[in-house]
Amino acid sequence: MDFVKVEREGGVATLTIDRQDKLNAISPQLVEEIGQSLLEIESEGPRVIVVTGAGEKAFVAGADITAMSAMSPTEAKRFAEIGHAAMALLDKSPIPTIAAVNGFALGGGCEIALACDIRIAAENALFGFPEVGLGILPGMGGTQRLPRLVGPAVAKELIFSARRIDAAEAQEIGLVNRVVPQGEALSAALELADQIATNGPLAVRYAKAAANKALDTDLVNGLEYEADQFALLFSTEDSREGMGAFSEKRKPEFTGN
Ligand code: COA
Repeated sequence: MDFVKVEREGGVATLTIDRQDKLNAISPQLVEEIGQSLLEIESEGPRVIVVTGAGEKAFVAGADITAMSAMSPTEAKRFAEIGHAAMALLDKSPIPTIAAVNGFALGGGCEIALACDIRIAAENALFGFPEVGLGILPGMGGTQRLPRLVGPAVAKELIFSARRIDAAEAQEIGLVNRVVPQGEALSAALELADQIATNGPLAVRYAKAAANKALDTDLVNGLEYEADQFALLFSTEDSREGMGAFSEKRKPEFTGN
């Protein structure tokens, strides 16, 4: 991998997008590296994945405009499809994902953050969708995930205007979960990841699947899915361990079985 670094500490895998001379802009090669890295990370079974950008200035300053300016419609479609596949590896991954947004999160950067389950932003982070100002539109899931997260009216305003918003406004509209001081997004994300990693890994995985289901289905089917996932966990050793530990007034030791 030229532009993606993966580190593993305990149950937490950190994927860093590292193309600092271009503010971590996403080229076709980079989006493939992100997808490939996520597949490898998932096969190693960490309990949480944290995604961040290298350096202090940018999380990801968008898709690579230089590369896109030379694309034919067919190449652009392929770029979008590869991007969608990579984002699905975050969104649909059984493992919870946290974006540590440490600076510019524009266009594709915002879309990577949106594909994660949770977003923690440094106070210098800037969010926005500049695409329409370039004569294109968000093509890595932004038109679909942003309305689901912040509602259609706010999403349309941001996408149609290409207005940049700071971390405080991003938190106000529900785009980010939490804002932390500059330089602390990654450490805050890792702290949260460690906290998630202490919980039953299967329980967290099934809870993620159930919460995702809420976005794809109606309440009746969503509740049925929840009941099935709830029941399934009662067949795991971890559920016996977790509830048993409560009765025995000790900390549970989860194995993921
Ligand atoms: N695609 C390609 N290259 C990019 C890029 C992108 N999305 N974002 C930044 N870069 C490159 C710049 O071209 C520059 O390269 P160079 O040194 O070879 O000229 C380098 O990264 C540094 O960026 P620069 O613009 O000099 O930094 P800045 O601090 O003046 O401005 C931004 C930062 C983020 C405001 C500005 O880079 C920008 O507007 N980027 C594009 C954002 C965008 O529209 N993203 C959505 C794309 S769909």
